[in-house]
Amino acid sequence: MNHLLDQLENDHRRILRLMYLLNRELDKFVGLKTGKHNYDQVLEILDYIQTYPEAWHHPVEDIIFKQLLTKSNVNHPAIEELLHAHPRLEALSAQMAYVFGEYQAANMVPSPQAMRLGRQYHAEQMSHIHAERSIFSLIDKLFSNADWDEVNAKVASQLKFRDSQSIDEGYILRCESITAKHAFTGTGLH
Ligand SMILES: [Fe+2]
Ligand SMILES: [Fe+2]
Repeated sequence: MNHLLDQLENDHRRILRLMYLLNRELDKFVGLKTGKHNYDQVLEILDYIQTYPEAWHHPVEDIIFKQLLTKSNVNHPAIEELLHAHPRLEALSAQMAYVFGEYQAANMVPSPQAMRLGRQYHAEQMSHIHAERSIFSLIDKLFSNADWDEVNAKVASQLKFRDSQSIDEGYILRCESITAKHAFTGTGLH
């Protein structure tokens, strides 16, 4: 698979692990899982998503999906839906961080509405990634070297400052430090 698609899919695996942990924290708030709930963990996950996937992963996907829209033999509405999902997911991340930050500051458990927001956020992130995985295999089949040259040139010019080695390393290490605390996600099995 193309190296950019590989990197995006590695991001998906990291985001899925974080969504698994987020859902466990939501379960603890309502007693579906034992253990003390941890707002810091929820906010750390949201901050991670806002800092890295939303700063690099979404913009790179936007460039690739727009290149895919130049093809005639693809499902254009499905690709446009993925593009529209990015600002929506970003708005939900910001809303989640605000709402859960407020409940933490008030030292209260989240309201039923806040819990619904959390579950909706989790479900939308998961279904977005699953929809993208099938599009990625299509892209891998359809894109020529010329398509990848165009994509790489746009990534290099539009995302230059976000694509440094140090940011990449911080991105991976930070996710690993969040997930390492948990036995299941710490093994990389999820
Ligand atoms: Fe995406
Ligand atoms: Fe993605």
